[in-house]
Amino acid sequence: MLYIFLLAFLFFSTSSLSHGSVLDFCVADYMAPEGPAGYSCKKLANVTVDDFVFTGLGVPGNTSNIFKAAVTLAVDAQFPGVNGLGISMARLDLAIGGVVPLHIHSGASEVIIVEQGTILAGFISAAANTVYMKTLNKGDIMVFPQGLLHFEVNTGWNSAIIFASFSSANPGLQIVDLALFANDLPSELVVKTTFLDYLQVKKLKAVFGGTG
Ligand SMILES: *[C@@H]1O[C@H](CO)[C@@H](O)[C@H](O)[C@H]1NC(C)=O
Ligand SMILES: *[C@@H]1O[C@H](CO)[C@@H](O)[C@H](O)[C@H]1NC(C)=O
Repeated sequence: MLYIFLLAFLFFSTSSLSHGSVLDFCVADYMAPEGPAGYSCKKLANVTVDDFVFTGLGVPGNTSNIFKAAVTLAVDAQFPGVNGLGISMARLDLAIGGVVPLHIHSGASEVIIVEQGTILAGFISAAANTVYMKTLNKGDIMVFPQGLLHFEVNTGWNSAIIFASFSSANPGLQIVDLALFANDLPSELVVKTTFLDYLQVKKLKAVFGGTG
């Protein structure tokens, strides 16, 4: 009896140890809802090489917006092959004067590489609110630790192209301006919680499409 128990124990412990390598991959099945751990796996018979290829990052994004910036994502929602792998990518286009305003990826650290142009990039530590920022040129890379506010500004004379990779298939994105000024949080509460002037809050709500 004990012998059988030990055998069973060995079997289950080795199978749980090797659990991570049982599946080669877990291509996202968009027919099922996404959960906290990502999408469920598409049936192997339905997986093709195109699930592991994303061609959209060769195309400049549309920077005709207030930020003069475009973010093209290749995360699990667009790129089924990265589901479950803990990685993803994006392309940033910054027109002259463009900015990716202060934002957070709650689920991922990020590393960027400048493909074209000159940018000022930086992040702010949570512990001491220290600013770490630097001008980056073609070929330079910089890392933004997970969950910290960061930004990129095009400080050059040409448009800038940046590629980003993330330590998650679904890094998440929250932009401070939109969180404050693009919703119906009452202006009085925005004033109270940010110490901004009421008129400035009203102006920014108009700019970003908020109400209240
Ligand atoms: C797999 O492909 C078949 C045939 O194209 C389709 O009917 C089925 O819905 C697919 N299943 C999934 C889980 O995508
Ligand atoms: C870029 O976006 C603007 C504003 O939404 C739109 O008017 C314009 O047609 C777009 N340009 C292209 C090339 O898609």
